[in-house]
Amino acid sequence: MEPGSLPFGEYVTNDKFVFQRIEDYWRRHAETLKNFNEFWDGVASELEWFEKWKNLLDDSNPPFYKWFVGGKINLSYLALDLNVKKGRGNKVALIWEGEPVDGNGMPLEVMRYTYGELLREVNKAAYVLKRLGVGKGDRISIYLPMIPETIIFMLAAWRIGAITSVVFSGFSAEALADRINDAGAKLLITADGFWRRGKIVPLKETADKAVERARSVEKVVVVKRIGLNNVPMREGRDYWLHDLLREVPSDVFVEPERLESEHPSFILYTSGTTGKPKGIVHDTGGWAVHVYATMKWVFDIREHDVYWCTADVGWVTGHSYVVLGPMLVGATQVVYEGAPDYPQPDRWWSIIERYKVSVFYTSPTAIRMFMKFGEDWPRRHDLSSLRIIHSVGEPINPEAWRWTYRVLGNEKVVLGSTWWMTETGGIMISHTPGFFLVPMKPGTNGPPLPGIEADIVDAKGESVPPGVKGYLVIKRPWPGMLHGIWGDPERYKATYWARFPGYFYAGDFAVKDQDGFIWVLGRADEVLKVAGHRLGTYEIESALVGHPAVAEAAVVGVPDPIKAETPVAFVVLKQGFKAGPELREELRRHVRNAIGPIAEPSTVFFVSKVPKTRSGKIMRRLLRSIALNAPLGDVSTLEDETSVDEARKLFEELK
Ligand code: WTA
Repeated sequence: MEPGSLPFGEYVTNDKFVFQRIEDYWRRHAETLKNFNEFWDGVASELEWFEKWKNLLDDSNPPFYKWFVGGKINLSYLALDLNVKKGRGNKVALIWEGEPVDGNGMPLEVMRYTYGELLREVNKAAYVLKRLGVGKGDRISIYLPMIPETIIFMLAAWRIGAITSVVFSGFSAEALADRINDAGAKLLITADGFWRRGKIVPLKETADKAVERARSVEKVVVVKRIGLNNVPMREGRDYWLHDLLREVPSDVFVEPERLESEHPSFILYTSGTTGKPKGIVHDTGGWAVHVYATMKWVFDIREHDVYWCTADVGWVTGHSYVVLGPMLVGATQVVYEGAPDYPQPDRWWSIIERYKVSVFYTSPTAIRMFMKFGEDWPRRHDLSSLRIIHSVGEPINPEAWRWTYRVLGNEKVVLGSTWWMTETGGIMISHTPGFFLVPMKPGTNGPPLPGIEADIVDAKGESVPPGVKGYLVIKRPWPGMLHGIWGDPERYKATYWARFPGYFYAGDFAVKDQDGFIWVLGRADEVLKVAGHRLGTYEIESALVGHPAVAEAAVVGVPDPIKAETPVAFVVLKQGFKAGPELREELRRHVRNAIGPIAEPSTVFFVSKVPKTRSGKIMRRLLRSIALNAPLGDVSTLEDETSVDEARKLFEELK
């Protein structure tokens, strides 16, 4: 997106909410920055700590910041035990709906867990983990779909101080193996399979292939989700969860560990510009404070709300806003296993109607897909329970915002676009109906949250005026911030803190409007957002080069009406290999197998050379123009004339 096309001056309000003056927001925001320590101290004090911190923020060794030093805390305790103590033992914490439906389109499987029941299940799971030899600081990999056991095992791990590494169930065996190896996980938890668009995905098969290459894994726990026959189980390594649970005393209680605030709670792998995906590490106390605060400010959760976040637990949104967030505020939440359009395009709307979802968190890609299906599908359902809707993962185009506001929100909701990333641990820029709500604008991210100092800077790190595109930075540490990259402190410094010394570099282009609202425009680096999923062009290129026919590969993202962006590959073949439709399909399949379906290039162009600058950088802008069959534009600024000529030739060749 480019700044010129954005509706900076379009203010939207409604009479269901109290909208405040923007100047007043900024005044309060400035106070939170001025009294930074007191402000965060106050927020953190709303959580229950076993021991209070001695130092709110240790910034003596930047960028290795430590939050709430000396504090002792436990996420599973806050999420479960505390809710039971507060009288929510019989309140429904989780409504889970499986994908399969009967002849009338009604779900065949719905499970409800109260906070009390979930606490029992988590205790049993924690007991199982301990029996399998998992203890504080051990890493466990979780390769599971959207089922209650996924949430139960994550909370169980955090109860005993184990570090989770969840791998999205759509990732390949190779991707899973890489992540297990990097984290050095000793246990893998997976399932026999799961439902996706009416088909069974046999997950254990993929997990087995990964474990062959994963040296650290000693044991594998398998959840029986589908009841598949003939699941190969290796004696002494693989265990059915239901067998393990049979040996657990029914009233078992596993004492929650009193963990240091900085104790890592999870590692989540995400893509960057170069190299393999990095293991982003998050702590316990800081993350809890940030997630708790944003559940209140951004989602404004009240006792009777029904909250639904459609993200998969394989991504950070699922970590912060499915597994932890709703439980920190004692909410009732919905989790759905399957595809949004199965068996037909109103599945999501039927879920909102069935459970009276009031707070809904989803993605622009999903919204654009539903726009394509048409208004009739949502119109068939009573969506009047909705009061707050937010999107996340990529910019929401003004048109998609307006559609959502009108069709889903009936012009009576708060609709926002929350900006954050895996590294930030929680929402950073957003409208805050639970704090101090300012007028909406179609497509903006809004102002930075209280206690968060965000800005847009030019290449020299100087703040830019409104209307000027620049780089998004965070100028002060924040509680949810990453605790580094697993096993690679140098890369942590280089990736986030070297470009603009003292500031966290997000890797996004953004622009401010006259009100100070931030509009994130998209990535400024070689990272793609395909249907909201973060992928590195470098990873796809390495996968392609791993194929015997490929000498060299370059991948760029091109605009897609639904997914926002889709990868397109340019491939130079080795001698003796013939370009053609079969090889093209084979290469697409190859990427699918190497990374997962989300990374599959929509097209593969065979070329004689990949145009590069003298310093060896792939000329991505040029390739993008070629892929779009658009004019090459101004090439005079490019360094290497011969490559430009090559590119021109290539362009002609492909025309
Ligand atoms: C993009 C997802 C615009 C952005 C939580 C960021 C957004 C990347 C928004 C992080 C939004 C996320 N508006 N862009 N509301 N939310 N992004 O790590 O480019 O998967 O850098 O975290 O998503 O992606 P990640």
